[in-house]
Amino acid sequence: MNINITTIPGDGIGPDIVREGCRVLDAVGKKYGHSFAYTEVLAGGAAIDATGEPLPEATLEACLKSDAVLLGAVGGPKWDALPGAKRPEKALLGLRGGMKVYANLRPAVMFKQLSAACPLKPEVVGDGLDILIVRELTGGIYFGDRGRSDDGNSAWDTETYSKEEIARVVKIGFESAMKRNGRLCVVDKANILETSRLWREVTESMKGGYPKVELSYMYVDNAAMQLVRNPGQFDVIVTSNMFGDILSDEASQITGSIGMLASASLGDSGPGLYEPIHGSAPDIAGKDIANPLATILTCAMLLRYSFSLEREAACIERAVEKVLDEGWRTGDIAGSADSRAALGELLVGTRKMGDLVVQAIQSM
Ligand code: IPM
Ligand code: MG
Repeated sequence: MNINITTIPGDGIGPDIVREGCRVLDAVGKKYGHSFAYTEVLAGGAAIDATGEPLPEATLEACLKSDAVLLGAVGGPKWDALPGAKRPEKALLGLRGGMKVYANLRPAVMFKQLSAACPLKPEVVGDGLDILIVRELTGGIYFGDRGRSDDGNSAWDTETYSKEEIARVVKIGFESAMKRNGRLCVVDKANILETSRLWREVTESMKGGYPKVELSYMYVDNAAMQLVRNPGQFDVIVTSNMFGDILSDEASQITGSIGMLASASLGDSGPGLYEPIHGSAPDIAGKDIANPLATILTCAMLLRYSFSLEREAACIERAVEKVLDEGWRTGDIAGSADSRAALGELLVGTRKMGDLVVQAIQSM
């Protein structure tokens, strides 16, 4: 296949990790006979500095024209004082909305090699963690009406969902559950929010189409608690934009390493948007110490979801496992200096970690 990818390195460590992701894609392409052409565009703080806008029109245009989009991260203290509409984060919302990628798949998977980093007791996590959070990404309070009263003394943000917006993402939840362990939990706040009650109503009207899926509902406060009490009870969670934002950060911490988690944002047609779930970590940018594995695993999702290249995706994932098995670690997933020696862990930087994954792909 010939695949056109728009890359948006963005800010902070974004350029460091996207570079490694592309190298890994090229290695897989070489092995299996695909070629990737990359078009790099600006978004976030980098775009603000260059053009005054967080999401220049040309960026969205390039994204829509490509086969898939790989994004690093946006934001940093340099742009924190800007008003809401001019902040780097606005680029993310503009991309998600503009590309109509309403379903954000965030797998929270614990790598067995990193289980020591899990903050929960071993008896709580059992034999690991493998949850898929399906977060609604182009609606709800993130996109609703917001404002300030004329006197500036009050403000509002509105949560709105249409039946159609709910149905299309809940459908992804059901379908994902069918492909996994058959359990779907709709997380909401239906004891308070009318939108949540609509989510339940729509889900009830759809469940007949998925008789094999074991469906449950849970209030978000309880879900936040259950995630740390008994995470193994979850298979697929489907939830609104804001609840998904919060729960996916919580779930990532249970895996012990936000530097390992990938995500895919998909719509009904058109290119998908792929990004690691961690942020731009400006304090470590350009120092060759960021962990590129979340981005590398994001590239595996890109191959799987946008191009059905399952063999190629699995190859990347196996390569990452191999590198971890051999003890290679970036700082964020390594133990202390003493325990590293005892555990046979070897500390490496961003580029070296990319090299190792590339070599593992070549050797398989
Ligand atoms: C995420 C991030 C973004 C979000 C921010 C940076 C706008 O937290 O992708 O989870 O809230 O969606
Ligand atoms: Mg978030």
